Amino acid sequence: MKQPVRVTVTGAAGQICYSLLFRIASGEMLGKDQPVILNLLEITPALKVCEAVAMELNDCAFPLVKDIVVTDDPAVAFKDANIGLMVGAKPRGPGMERKDLLTDNGKIFSALGKVIDQVADKNIKICVVGNPANTNAYILAKNAPSINQRNITALTRLDHNRAIYQLAEKADAEIAAIKKMIIWGNHSVTQVPDISFATVNGDQAADKVDATWAKEEFMPIVAKRGAAVIAARGASSAASAANAILDHMHDWVLGSAEGDWVSMAVPSDGSYGIQEGLIYSYPVVCKNGDYEIVQGLEVSDFIKDKMIESQKELQEEAETCKDLF
Ligand code: NAI
Repeated sequence: MKQPVRVTVTGAAGQICYSLLFRIASGEMLGKDQPVILNLLEITPALKVCEAVAMELNDCAFPLVKDIVVTDDPAVAFKDANIGLMVGAKPRGPGMERKDLLTDNGKIFSALGKVIDQVADKNIKICVVGNPANTNAYILAKNAPSINQRNITALTRLDHNRAIYQLAEKADAEIAAIKKMIIWGNHSVTQVPDISFATVNGDQAADKVDATWAKEEFMPIVAKRGAAVIAARGASSAASAANAILDHMHDWVLGSAEGDWVSMAVPSDGSYGIQEGLIYSYPVVCKNGDYEIVQGLEVSDFIKDKMIESQKELQEEAETCKDLF
């Protein structure tokens, strides 16, 4: 039997986690032979609900779950943690500007970064989900200098999965027929869903769908899909976000599919001219518990301009939060 992996999940009493935790516990994230210890972090007022979630997890009698810890103390939650799923954040309230959300949530992620720096495994693999996800990850990284910086990432897999669905639907193809989708940039409306390198059953997607559709429908539909779900559901995407978190961490730990790549927001190493250190979504290939940014793609001027716009937004977000690092 393998040693258990310690998975810390923040915002564990929230909507996303109500879908996420049960699937981690059943082995969908790390494999059906990988035991886990679940450390569930919540703010004090939500502890009771979090305990109820733990009760339900126990009532599933998942054989892979070796222990569940419910706490409002980040130092307890992140002690020796191997994986950190940073879901907990404040939602945007009525009348709140994006800037207010940035600073409020930035404070949460600077505080958690400091604790992670002190108590977590130095190779902890982190996926930031709470919005603004890329900038929260950037703030966390700056506050956790002793942690392997490569391992501080943010979630754009939901955007990637949304893009795959839209292309499959348009091309009248199976989901599994779509490969090499890309989301570049920030998890926001400036993101750049790009089908330039995508294939449909091995053929170039560009030969299957027209360029006007890609620019005028596909890109805005994917970028604004989160808002469309909020409008329809009255709450932000939860089950699909949980599914994307599982995909992100599953592929990072166990490898992405042969002959394909996935989108992850990772610290830029300067690839494609993006400022080093920004948490920027790239196409990556995952292998042996690590990832590599796909190199050498010939990006069109149209996409390049949009990539720079998304970079600019990330630079502005970082500037707004510079007091936090
Ligand atoms: P929710 O409001 O249902 O749950 C959030 C939970 O976080 C609450 O239970 C709250 O008590 C907790 N929380 C707040 N501050 C905390 C802290 N300092 N430490 C620990 N827990 C804390 O929200 P939901 O639907 O679960 O979404 C969570 C976040 O995920 C939101 O910021 C949302 O915008 C973001 N999101 C990101 C997506 C992405 O693709 N990156 C997709 C969908 C949602």
